[in-house]
Amino acid sequence: MATATALRRPEIKTELPGPKARAIIEADAQFVNPAYPRPDFKLVAERGQGVWVEDVDGNMFLDCNAGVAVCSTGHCHPEVVRAIQDQAAQLIHICGTDYYYASMPELAKKLDEIVPLQRPTRTHFANSGTEAVETALKLAMHATGREKFISFFGSFHGRTLGSLSLTSSRAAQRLGFKRQVLDVVHMPYPNEYRNPFSAGDCGDGGVVQGAVNWIENRLFKTTTPPEEVAAIVVEPVQGEGGYVPAPAGFMQEVRRICDEHGILLIVDEVQSGMGRTGKMFALDHYGLKADIVCIAKGIASGLPLGVCVARADLMDWKPGAHASTFGGNPVAIAAALKTIELLQRELVANSAEVGAYLKRGLEKLMSKYDCIGDVRGMGMMIGVEFVKDRSSKIPDPDLRDRVEMETFNRGVILLGCGPNSIRWSPPLILTQDNVDIALEIFDEAIAASV
Ligand SMILES: Cc1ncc(COP(=O)(O)O)c(C=O)c1O
Repeated sequence: MATATALRRPEIKTELPGPKARAIIEADAQFVNPAYPRPDFKLVAERGQGVWVEDVDGNMFLDCNAGVAVCSTGHCHPEVVRAIQDQAAQLIHICGTDYYYASMPELAKKLDEIVPLQRPTRTHFANSGTEAVETALKLAMHATGREKFISFFGSFHGRTLGSLSLTSSRAAQRLGFKRQVLDVVHMPYPNEYRNPFSAGDCGDGGVVQGAVNWIENRLFKTTTPPEEVAAIVVEPVQGEGGYVPAPAGFMQEVRRICDEHGILLIVDEVQSGMGRTGKMFALDHYGLKADIVCIAKGIASGLPLGVCVARADLMDWKPGAHASTFGGNPVAIAAALKTIELLQRELVANSAEVGAYLKRGLEKLMSKYDCIGDVRGMGMMIGVEFVKDRSSKIPDPDLRDRVEMETFNRGVILLGCGPNSIRWSPPLILTQDNVDIALEIFDEAIAASV
């Protein structure tokens, strides 16, 4: 496979999926968990390099999804690969919950410097986003002695039993799992494009006031007395729910409400963190600090790592309260340290700059197509919402699915999110030339789908 160059284009040589891909998909259908929520298009990847993914039949795709917002430094960044190889040759595992190694406190110290929390902080090392969230939930209950949580419709925080109590982006995630484990109340997310609150609730304060009134006048006065609430758990940009950023002022209001009632603010940056929004963390756009932050996906360029970073005074539980055999594995930590170095060196800035260029291009497409209802987001976390027409705003999930498929058939990988949106979450190394090609193909795909 040749190295990525700026002017390279996707190359589709076979029908999709091709013959080798079809055989693998068949084997998968026989032996692999059928609950994986795979999209209509079928990508069977063999190799990745930079922004390019080659499938088993030799088709070459421009990847604008990055393995669902994970491969922040691009596929197999040479410096990340070297860091992984060096570490694998030295020490793969020893179990950080029982023994020590230098890189664990080194990464925790680095996170202490960059995560938007009141310092000093402490970090728990886990293996995934959902584990980071489980940690945050346990910690909030332990630190406050309370057990209620407030979460948002459309949120996704994971599928293990604790985080599932928060998750509410699709019924399929809940169906069959009966009563939820945690005491969580859900409320509408302040979506500016689809204001879920009544005019009365909003007054002239818009969607932010609507959300504040919902918490203070409805939840606190009925089902959810504030003195029993351990934490409000929020994604600053809803990810699986449709790439919906919280409006300006909302996070500040949530912070205020938390402070007034001794409630902890848990910010789930699993998808929005690590440079994805053009700043290291989405919360940095709002200029405030959380009490607990969950991070995973983009932190280690594809190696499994999830972390829960918390104010040190909160994370003062006793030995045995929470730990993980594999969490913070030395190889994953080596990848994370190198990833953060690359993000700080250039990729967060690139995410902001090229992300803004991408967004401008998508806005131009919006003026061309009445079926694009909304283009939103920051950096390289951009959502495009498909509707029947812009005036009715009626969601068009079928059109979204067709666009996703047509884009794939032309060699660009994009994944849906929410009921009728497409997410742009490319590797943060994406260039303007890559954007031009991706937009040209997206344009053709929409034209072929409407
Ligand atoms: C915001 C958010 N939190 C948590 C998770 C769960 O992460 P994982 O799939 O690694 O368990 C996800 C995954 O998409 C996510 O987007």
